[in-house]
This record gives sequence, structure tokens and C-alpha cells, in this order.
Amino acid sequence: MTASSLSFRLAVLFVIVGMAMGIGMAATQDHSIMPAHAHLNLLGWVSLFLFGIYYERRPALDTSRIAVIQVMLWSIGTVILTIAVAAIHLGYSAADPVAGISSLIVLAAMLMFAYFVFRPAAAIQSGPTMRMTPAE
Ligand code: HEM
Repeated sequence: MTASSLSFRLAVLFVIVGMAMGIGMAATQDHSIMPAHAHLNLLGWVSLFLFGIYYERRPALDTSRIAVIQVMLWSIGTVILTIAVAAIHLGYSAADPVAGISSLIVLAAMLMFAYFVFRPAAAIQSGPTMRMTPAE
């Protein structure tokens, strides 16, 4: 599977869970896990979907193993961070180190992405900016 397909699929799964959390908070009038909801939606839906768009526009990167690893690392970090942040806001302060470690996982994934963005232009094989269909 390409990095973009993986990003889009995981992003949609994350936002479904994030929206369910939002509906749960609204229905119960208990907003204590709001920070976990916000992190899941912004890391898991918005950022991951943006990664997917970036990868889809660079076919050589999209099919590379390193990009898939970046998406997986980001997603694993997001899941652990979301659970840890929820636990902390529900009063389980023991989850603090877990949140700390998972935040470093997410940072590592972002540093990988930064490498893709900043590496020399010659190493990046961009896809065509415009797709043309031959006339019949
Ligand atoms: C069914 C969809 C959703 C529902 C029902 C929902 C519900 C909520 C609720 C009840 C809160 C707590 C508000 C408060 O305590 O002040 C909240 C906060 C938040 N939500 Fe959602 N949400 C939904 C989708 C989303 C999505 C898709 C995103 C991001 C793309 C998002 C991002 C946020 C953020 C960033 C906050 C924190 C806002 C703040 O700090 O005041 N939510 N949401």
C-alpha cells in the first residue's frame, strides 16, 4: 500500500473515532477528555490527511518504504498520545510518562517528514502538476 492510501485510510478511521468522542462529550456534558479529542482530530485527521496529499503528489516518495514507516510511526504515536492524554485528564496521572514518550514518537515522525520536505530538490521526484487526457 502506498503512503498516501495508508494516510487517507487511517485519517478517516481516526476522525470517526474523534467525532464519536465529540458526540460522547456533548451528549454527557462531560468535556474532560476534550484535549484527547482535539489531539486525535488534529494529529490523526488533519495532519495525517495533509501528509497523504503531500505523498500523493510525489509518486516516488509515495511508493517508498520510508514514507510508509513515517505514516505508521505518526499513527502509532497518535493513538498512544490520545489514550495517554485522555487518561491524564480522567485523573490517571501515571499516564504522564506515556504521554511524554508518545509525544517523542510523534516528533520523530514529524522530523522524518521534515527531512522529506527539506532534502535537496534533485532527490524529490514530483508528480505531474497537471494531468492531461489525450483528445479523442
Ligand atoms: C461529530 C463531530 C464533533 C463533535 C460532536 C465535537 C465536539 C466537541 C466538544 C463537545 C468539544 C469540547 C468543547 C469545550 O469543552 O469547550 C470539542 C472541542 C474541540 N474539538 Fe471537536 N467535535 C467534533 C469534531 C471535531 C473535529 C473534526 C475537529 C478537528 C478537525 C475537532 C477539534 C476540536 C478541538 C481543537 C477542540 C478544542 C477546542 C478548545 O480548545 O476550545 N472536533 N469538540
